[in-house]
Amino acid sequence: MPQVEILAEVTKFLEGPPKMVIGGKSAGAVSDGTFEAINPATGKVICEVPRADAADVDVAVAAARQAFDDRRWTGLRPGKRTEILIKLADLLKRNMNELTQLEALDGGKPLTQASAEVWTSADHLRYYSGWPTKIFGDTTPSADDLFVYSLREPLGVVGGIIPWNFPLIMAVRKVAPALACGNTIVLKPAEQTPLTAIRFAELCLEAGVPDGVVNVVTGFGDEAGQALAQHHDVDKIAFTGSTEVGRKILHASEGNLKRVMLELGGKSPNIVFSDADLRRASKGSMIGVFMNAGQVCTAGTRILVENDVHDSFIESLVDATGTMKVGDPFEEGTGMGPLISEQQMERVTGYIEIARAEGAELVTGGERPTDLGDGYFVQPTVFANVSNDMRIAQEEVFGPVAAVIRVDDVEEAIRTANDSIYGLAAAVWTRDISKAHRVARGIRAGTVWVNTYGLYDSAVGYGGYKQSGFGRELGKESLESYTQTKSVWVNLK
Ligand code: NAI
Ligand code: MG
Repeated sequence: MPQVEILAEVTKFLEGPPKMVIGGKSAGAVSDGTFEAINPATGKVICEVPRADAADVDVAVAAARQAFDDRRWTGLRPGKRTEILIKLADLLKRNMNELTQLEALDGGKPLTQASAEVWTSADHLRYYSGWPTKIFGDTTPSADDLFVYSLREPLGVVGGIIPWNFPLIMAVRKVAPALACGNTIVLKPAEQTPLTAIRFAELCLEAGVPDGVVNVVTGFGDEAGQALAQHHDVDKIAFTGSTEVGRKILHASEGNLKRVMLELGGKSPNIVFSDADLRRASKGSMIGVFMNAGQVCTAGTRILVENDVHDSFIESLVDATGTMKVGDPFEEGTGMGPLISEQQMERVTGYIEIARAEGAELVTGGERPTDLGDGYFVQPTVFANVSNDMRIAQEEVFGPVAAVIRVDDVEEAIRTANDSIYGLAAAVWTRDISKAHRVARGIRAGTVWVNTYGLYDSAVGYGGYKQSGFGRELGKESLESYTQTKSVWVNLK
């Protein structure tokens, strides 16, 4: 299969080398420290980036604070902010190939999936570009001697802390609503994938976002991340990542009682009833669990299958899985790349061992491919005869591992689906419309798909029930959490 060549723009950006963007300027770390950006398909170093710590976070938060306080962004005509956000969306599209390659190099995503990520990021920006002119307060009915109204105002400085599984989308999901609502932001990308966030911040400046409104600090979670989460001059933390770190963020927010939004992990049930279209259900389930090598918070990792169709479903799931080509992200036809890091690879192979020891039946996969060099690859893996109390059914693996669980009927399916600390997403496959809606209502999760898996849209709210977090991103639901209201009382006497 042909290899795609690295673009000259990509080489130039990497040779830069990439720096943080703080107060509209390119910046190294105060300490001069750096860390390595790694290509997970080869385990090789791509380039070095600044290693920010608390000192850099202080500088970035001060820049964001100043940009907020002098109203260089909030105070613009709303239509002007719309114009700038549209220009930013256009710039993402214009630089699509460069961003796609950077994302594929740093995160190991096949090129087609990386370019879909850039497209979605541009779509989010277009969606939010429409909001600055449509965020209102209210006037309240009052007696003649009073005039009472509310202003819907931005919070101030937002801290965005994001994971490595969809680096650009996650960056935009924090930056776009923050900006649409008039805030400024300090964004900390994951240490595994710092590159596209840096390039995105450069494009923000090119689009005309004023200096200091979007700042990017690159660094580790326990250094830069923790400093941002604790910072007394940050008004909100928008976090996506593990439930464990979500708890730490909540603790760190105590000092100044900043707002917190948490998008955390999942163990999403994907229910296949015997009256489903099995061919579609198995293909959809395969994509639902193996997309992005299973490194998706909404991955449908618990596949609940009604007894009568259990065996035939497994057969077609294994067939569908066989069509997924694991390999080099830069090779055409690759459907699944490597895991993000050696650590994640070890975590995933560790869970495969745990599942075996717990007595789950390995149906396909379970190994590392032997022909793909030093990259962090793991075969798409399916376990059957899983019971819902096994660790493989309760804990987030974050890799290409499906656990198939038998259920007897609708009631058992709903009960099993809800028997989890998580509640991020779920799906149901059936031709019975009443059953579909009954299950959708019965499941405690922030998203339910019917006869499909993994659809998202800029206009549709997204977030968790239970320990999958709180707060909603995307759609108009997200706007409330980036604004606050002020009631103004005027004496007309
Ligand atoms: P993580 O939750 O540690 O990392 C997410 C972000 O939080 C990164 O930017 C990281 O630097 C930052 N961070 C880490 N510790 C922090 C702290 N004390 N204070 C502030 N920020 C901090 O995720 P990690 O370690 O990369 O992956 C471990 C597991 O987490 C995965 O196997 C998966 O189960 C889960 N995960 C879930 C994600 C989701 O979207 N639901 C995304 C990434 C990981
Ligand atoms: Mg990397």
